Amino acid sequence: MSIITFWSPDHGRGKTANCAAAGAMVGLDYDIRTLIARTQFGNSSLEDAFIKSKELQMKNFVTSAATGMDALERLFKTKRLSASGISNHTLSLEPGRLDLLAGTSKPDESGHEGIEHVIAAIFDEARRYYQAIMLDIESGGANQITNQLIQSSDLVVVNLSQDLSSLERYASQEQWPCALQGKNKMILLGQYDPHSKYNATNIRRKFGIKDPLFVIPYCSDYRDAFNDKDVLGWFRRTRNAGRRHGSYPFFQEVRKAVKEMLSQIGVNTEIKRIERGVS
Ligand SMILES: Nc1ncnc2c1ncn2[C@@H]1O[C@H](COP(=O)(O)OP(=O)(O)OP(=O)(O)O)[C@@H](O)[C@H]1O
Ligand SMILES: [Mg+2]
Repeated sequence: MSIITFWSPDHGRGKTANCAAAGAMVGLDYDIRTLIARTQFGNSSLEDAFIKSKELQMKNFVTSAATGMDALERLFKTKRLSASGISNHTLSLEPGRLDLLAGTSKPDESGHEGIEHVIAAIFDEARRYYQAIMLDIESGGANQITNQLIQSSDLVVVNLSQDLSSLERYASQEQWPCALQGKNKMILLGQYDPHSKYNATNIRRKFGIKDPLFVIPYCSDYRDAFNDKDVLGWFRRTRNAGRRHGSYPFFQEVRKAVKEMLSQIGVNTEIKRIERGVS
């Protein structure tokens, strides 16, 4: 149904980590068909974050030429791509609810003229099967794939940090992909430190931000789960821990951000939320 792109004006702001956390939360807490994928070349950190969930299958899956983005590209070019067939080329992380599409194994875009249109067409087809497609796309304003995907997305999650230089660059709009103008956006401050002088309230005020603004707190256990490639396992075990658990604020904020994302793309979050203990 809808495409949510995770974009950032620069690298290392937690875009992949935020996308992985949001995808895991939607997959576990909501009864909708969700796809997570990345479109960068030469950066597999999104799928890496989930490797531990299904280690053996994942290894076969990621190295197989019959699955993932490269396989879909071949299907598209031979006009055999179908909406329901796309899920056969993904790895199911939560049956019926969360699929992961492995990204391209190609190191870069050279020799791929018009690839941005192919990728956009693949996700346009995928949206006929999935209710939410969450995409970790290349940072910055220069990339054609980024521009094309922002163009076709329903919501752009702009991943920023509390670094003033980066916030100023974003606010100046100088390096925005042209498709970002006028798009439905929400701001996500990653690796968030609530004790900084530049907290969410002050950042909103200082930069006159009108779009919805949410935070993903810095969380040591999340960093470990991300590094250990076990984001989903850690979410399964820990996401409903009580108030006194150290990771409680992290999950609270991820939940709030995800609820906003789903509301923005028209999902009824009351009806689609899975009751605790049912899944
Ligand atoms: N909320 C968080 N809590 C703790 N650590 C985090 C958090 N978010 C991100 N990190 C850590 O910061 C590092 C950089 O984050 P990430 O890989 O998501 O950046 P990125 O914006 O995707 O970078 P790039 O643009 O290069 O792809 C990760 O290795 C991750 O361990
Ligand atoms: Mg990344």
